[in-house]
Amino acid sequence: MNRSVPPPRGRKAPPCTLVIFGAGGDLTKRLLMPAIYNLAKARLLAEKFAIIAVDRTPKPVEAFREYLAEGVRSFVSDTAAGPATEPFDEQAWASLASRITHFAGDLTESDTYARLSDVLQKTATLHQTGGNAVFYLAVASQLFGTIVEQLGAVGLTREDGSDWRRVIIEKPFGNDLDSARALNDRILKVLSEPQIYRMDHFLGKETVQNIMVLRFANGIFEPIWNRDHIDHVQITVAETVGVERRARFYEATGALRDMVPNHVFQLLSLTAMEPPNSFDADAVRTEKHKVLEAVSPLDGEEIRRNTVRGQYGTGAIRGEPAVAYREEPGVAPDSMTETYIAMRLAIDNWRWAGVPFYLRTGKRLTRRTTEIAIHFKQAPFALFRDTPVDALTPNVLALQIQPDEGASLQFSAKIPGPEIDLGGVRMNFSYKDYFNTEPTTGYETLVYDCIIGDAMLFNRADGVEAGWAVVQPILDLWKDDKTVPLEIYPAGSAGPDGADNLLWRSGRQWRPIA
Ligand code: BG6
Repeated sequence: MNRSVPPPRGRKAPPCTLVIFGAGGDLTKRLLMPAIYNLAKARLLAEKFAIIAVDRTPKPVEAFREYLAEGVRSFVSDTAAGPATEPFDEQAWASLASRITHFAGDLTESDTYARLSDVLQKTATLHQTGGNAVFYLAVASQLFGTIVEQLGAVGLTREDGSDWRRVIIEKPFGNDLDSARALNDRILKVLSEPQIYRMDHFLGKETVQNIMVLRFANGIFEPIWNRDHIDHVQITVAETVGVERRARFYEATGALRDMVPNHVFQLLSLTAMEPPNSFDADAVRTEKHKVLEAVSPLDGEEIRRNTVRGQYGTGAIRGEPAVAYREEPGVAPDSMTETYIAMRLAIDNWRWAGVPFYLRTGKRLTRRTTEIAIHFKQAPFALFRDTPVDALTPNVLALQIQPDEGASLQFSAKIPGPEIDLGGVRMNFSYKDYFNTEPTTGYETLVYDCIIGDAMLFNRADGVEAGWAVVQPILDLWKDDKTVPLEIYPAGSAGPDGADNLLWRSGRQWRPIA
């Protein structure tokens, strides 16, 4: 069998030029540049590395470098929840900044790409970066197809000899199944699949990668990771932030499109996948893809029964008053866009038949938390007088993705004393107690992986389409059918009541978000 060997990690990346489209945008300033700076500081980038920052309007390079430095200073080592934790390393920044070139051009004009081709050649000569290049598309999604075609038209995607050309495409990859397919078709006419790195920043999070390590590097979990031992699984991605300054994007998108086919399904497929044959990018992505393919298709009646949509109303977050979604700047006063979604899915395969997966994600909830909770089946029989089985503490293995990174196991224990009284206890593992590492944005891993050519943490064309295929029937039904009501929940609450009913119906309940 012809199996490619994953490239070695933790070594200096090979020389390359990184071309950032959308270099003047928020994402570059907030996430991408801090990640590149962290990589430079950790000496993971080659000395022969350069950046071409592509932006619409011309700017003196010094002013542009200073603009990026501001972003790096305020966001570096910053988890979304807290302030920067490390001093800014002026020397590392100065060295990186000296390798940044600014390039202005209209991304819809072919002349821009002809000029870019010249600049890329000059930059490669000046910084000895050779012929390797990563094109990072941190731009509005409508431009993805155009940029790839234009790069192809001037020969910038052509790989000569051992020189490679790769393209990182940010989210959102399409806004429904048809548009995702159309975009894949369009870019695959120019690029080969191994040249395409479709981004889902959740995969850059250490704790998300740890799901695979926990499952496949420990002997104790896999034997019980199935329908014989697991009652159900809950996946929660709760945010306290509201729509922020993104009303234009969010009004047309909503929580389902924004979070489910991508981030939530990454968590789902890593939790439910079969062990891959190796940690090779394609082996892992094939197993993840199979999970989404096995999700039981939802028809009209099931969607009405098994999905819940909500929108935040007025409320309070940590004691601070918070306005309703419909009062946010840029949002229509009668907007029907959902800011919360919960659903119950089934996975039709031997491992998971009969095990419901409950997923929920929403904005303006009580607390920011992302976790996967594996609820194991109850002990079959209670030996203990006066303690019925259903009063035993359920065994729950919770994988905490953010902001508290770790895992915990809940079980029953005897309360000390003459009586046999049982109480629920919890065993906790916290990343910060064991590993002395600074939290990262997650982009470090992904940028580094792209430069070393490891696509395991990126989406393949079939994976993206499989995610959209699962949610498409929901999008279709919600559009025309009002039988799944849009429930208003107070900002700062745990979400709409309908989400609780989704579990109560089968005698279960959500883990508290608070
Ligand atoms: C983005 C969504 O992809 O992920 C946002 O567009 C969401 O709406 C964000 O807030 C969540 O990411 P993180 O890393 O802050 O949990």
